[in-house]
Amino acid sequence: MSRIAKHLLPDSAKTNKSGRLEIGGCDLIDIAERFGTPTFVYDEAHLRARCQEAVKVFGKHQVVYATKAFLCGAMARLAYEEGLLLDVATGGELFVALNAGVPGSACVLHGNNKSSEELKMALDAGIHHIVVDNFNELDRIDELHKAGAPRARIQLRITPGVAVHTHEFVSTGQDDSKFGFNLRNGDAQKAVARAKSSPSVEFVGIHCHIGSNVFAAENFAQAAQIMVDFANELEVSELTLGGGLGVAYIESEIAPSITQWGKSLAIATAKLRKPTKVFVEPGRAIVASAAVTLYRIGSIKHLPNIRTYVAVDGGMSDNPRPVLYDSGYEAFLPARADDDRTENARLVGKHCESGDVLINEAMLPSGYKVGDILATPVTGAYGHSMGSNYNKVTRPPVVFVRDGVARLVVRRETFSDLVNLDVADSV
Ligand SMILES: Cc1ncc(COP(=O)(O)O)c(C=O)c1O
Repeated sequence: MSRIAKHLLPDSAKTNKSGRLEIGGCDLIDIAERFGTPTFVYDEAHLRARCQEAVKVFGKHQVVYATKAFLCGAMARLAYEEGLLLDVATGGELFVALNAGVPGSACVLHGNNKSSEELKMALDAGIHHIVVDNFNELDRIDELHKAGAPRARIQLRITPGVAVHTHEFVSTGQDDSKFGFNLRNGDAQKAVARAKSSPSVEFVGIHCHIGSNVFAAENFAQAAQIMVDFANELEVSELTLGGGLGVAYIESEIAPSITQWGKSLAIATAKLRKPTKVFVEPGRAIVASAAVTLYRIGSIKHLPNIRTYVAVDGGMSDNPRPVLYDSGYEAFLPARADDDRTENARLVGKHCESGDVLINEAMLPSGYKVGDILATPVTGAYGHSMGSNYNKVTRPPVVFVRDGVARLVVRRETFSDLVNLDVADSV
């Protein structure tokens, strides 16, 4: 196999004179030396370029960045600075966004089981809107309003009955889903009737999100058409068509760009009869290919006629996607970025679990050895955010690189962080 494919790397990636890969003008080997391993390295210009592309296609404050894909103070500020709103799905995500200086009026609250505390927090912060998921949530909003909370500006999450080609765990638009009001069984119409007559809410629009890592334009177009028809019937002023645009994780995959995604939605939205603000909620498409994870190889085990295991100093705690979704990834050695990758090995982590596999069939250049820095690209989404400290492995830092400067935006977790929450025993 040849060198790592360009389309899997951040925009600014290039091989320098020493044959080493640079991102944002920073040599990845130097970054590994300076910040240790594992480390998430994000190309800041790439993040901004994807935000700008989305704003160009859909409009300022009509792109709602799904923070679940990757959230820290620096990312929240970056998305907001670029004219995006922020989708927060919990009180915790809302707290991080507010703490970063993003106003509540630039946040949208999601979630299929929002607590009264989370709803109140959002209303107190002056949230842009709440995407209401179910009847119990409408009850809770009523109670809060009776207790003095302001009226909630809401969109209703609709399940349009569209099944998409993606992993079952991230497919959300089909009838059999925990999310939203079902269009086919009449729940959506009942929710609309209730919202329209409720003094506790201002009903402004409808929302759908059919799933994540979707590549098929026809899936988006089909859901958009169903939602546009419903929006026309209701004469709402806002419509959200979700996120879910897929990205390429491995060489053979080619994903639509944000601009192409916009085109697949535009055919339906052109049929909106009333002036309607159309929102989208991309997460992965903004951040996934902006980052690589740097690891150090710690052990290599050859099993003749079986396989070779290459173990790195992270694993399922910094990237649970292979274990959760059987997701594919690729690997390369940043010190020899242009070398052909001819050796097959199973890339595993350091956790006490046989399932702790990062790449089943990784391809690496020959001559790789213990101590080498290894990188996995397209790890900017749902890695840091879904990470854990299983086995009390400390969470990696996050470094933003740009114009030759590497900036630490999240420090590495320390051993003392691991005991910070323990309450002293009072035996
Ligand atoms: C409601 C909603 N919007 C947007 C997203 C973002 O999806 P993606 O990161 O695939 O674009 C998600 C992901 O789960 C979601 O649940």
